[in-house]
Amino acid sequence: MNRLVVVSNRVPLPEKGAQAGGLATALEPLLRREGGLWFGWSGAINEEARDSALHLTQAGRLTYATIDLSPAEHQGFYANFANGVLWPLLHSLPELMRFDRADAETYLATNARFADALLGQVRRDDLIWVHDYHLLPLPGLLRARGVRNPIGFFLHIPFPGADLLALAPPAAALLEALLEADLIGFQTDGDLANFVTAAETMAGARRRGPDRLEVAGREVQLGVFPAEIDAPAFCATAARAAAAPNATRLRQSLAGQSLILGVDRLDPTKGLVQRLNGYRRLLERHPGLRRRVAFLQIAPVSREDVASYKTLRIEINRAAGQLNSEFGDPDWTPLRLIAKGAPRDSVAGYMRSARVGLVTPLRDGMNLVAKEYVAAQAPEDPGVLVLSRFAGAARQLDAALLVNPNDPDAIAEALNRALHMERRERQTRWQAMWDAIADRSPLEWGFDFLRALQRAATASAATRLELVGAAPRSPQLRPVAFAAASSAIN
Ligand code: G6P
Repeated sequence: MNRLVVVSNRVPLPEKGAQAGGLATALEPLLRREGGLWFGWSGAINEEARDSALHLTQAGRLTYATIDLSPAEHQGFYANFANGVLWPLLHSLPELMRFDRADAETYLATNARFADALLGQVRRDDLIWVHDYHLLPLPGLLRARGVRNPIGFFLHIPFPGADLLALAPPAAALLEALLEADLIGFQTDGDLANFVTAAETMAGARRRGPDRLEVAGREVQLGVFPAEIDAPAFCATAARAAAAPNATRLRQSLAGQSLILGVDRLDPTKGLVQRLNGYRRLLERHPGLRRRVAFLQIAPVSREDVASYKTLRIEINRAAGQLNSEFGDPDWTPLRLIAKGAPRDSVAGYMRSARVGLVTPLRDGMNLVAKEYVAAQAPEDPGVLVLSRFAGAARQLDAALLVNPNDPDAIAEALNRALHMERRERQTRWQAMWDAIADRSPLEWGFDFLRALQRAATASAATRLELVGAAPRSPQLRPVAFAAASSAIN
């Protein structure tokens, strides 16, 4: 395979330890094995970021190349536009969007700085794979700098209806720039279908087949690539970790109570307030369960510079305090809310110790925690997954108890059912879910995408050649078209 160049905002540098989030979990195994270049943000915020050199770290055959962000870039690009506009909109939560044109400009300028810094690193035969909503315009910005390598893009989060996306003023320009990629990948077919409509209505694309678009005479391939985990490896980790001190201490502290477990970054899309309300309803409706269950929610604090995350932290702490003071006893704490992350191994052990995995995002691209919970279970006595129907994972894990995360009563009913479910039903459901994930892996996910990228790049090079014959100016015109579109927000 040609050298792989992965570009993502978040780069899990080895010295930083494990990073929360599905992107790092999905990509790390592939890069560790294949080697290549992983380019993105160092995680550092630095007044002199614009003048500072690229940081290079070598780990085996993998090179990490990272840049710092200036405080203004961190605020405008990362906190305000990527996480204050795109993240809520793409998760269909427009009420959380806070748009300011200056942030959109910083977002574009920071993407341009990524493109400039990457340019010096790219070799002729590299495959370039760009990730996630922080870097939507990067394919167009790279093309505008003369990069002709195959460029793939994968969106780890959902793609919303076109009418929602249109709420962000620069949406059309961002789509046009993104459409300079050869292949654009999504978590589910629903995301892909939404993208096709948006590309047609906002960016002048035409549908050439179920997963092909034509834009300015070029073909862009689309595809669905659900992110995966290594289920057998995670299962082995969970079996080991369940016997290790952390999980053993947790089980001892439960004194026979059934454990309900949630593991999420503290994020407004994860439906944590609704989830706590669902648990409250469970305790109200089924008083017999009090003292017999405990809910452990691990919710590491995330994106503290974004206003809605700060508000959520206050709200969730208040709701948790109320619940515990109202339902708790001197010797029983119904809810344990932990704001720290835990090592992945320990989490695997907790998952295996939990009778119920509660995963109820309001919307989620995939949600690898749901897959991890399934993988962590002991086949002879598995727990039950209660899963939001709006998580991408629900497509594969439809043997879970699927709930609408906006409905606390539905969450309470599913929890009650899960806590009382007979072993035979638990096994049947678990087996179906295990079968859906066990023979997939992050490596296959990555290779599927990269093979499709190579095919797409070959096809689009062919159309480019045809174009050169028919209208030689077209290939050069594309970057200019983006520059014009983007200048509307400059
Ligand atoms: C999600 C996003 C990733 C992001 C991760 C952690 O999984 O899809 O792009 O890296 O959350 O968020 P953070 O803002 O800390 O990078």
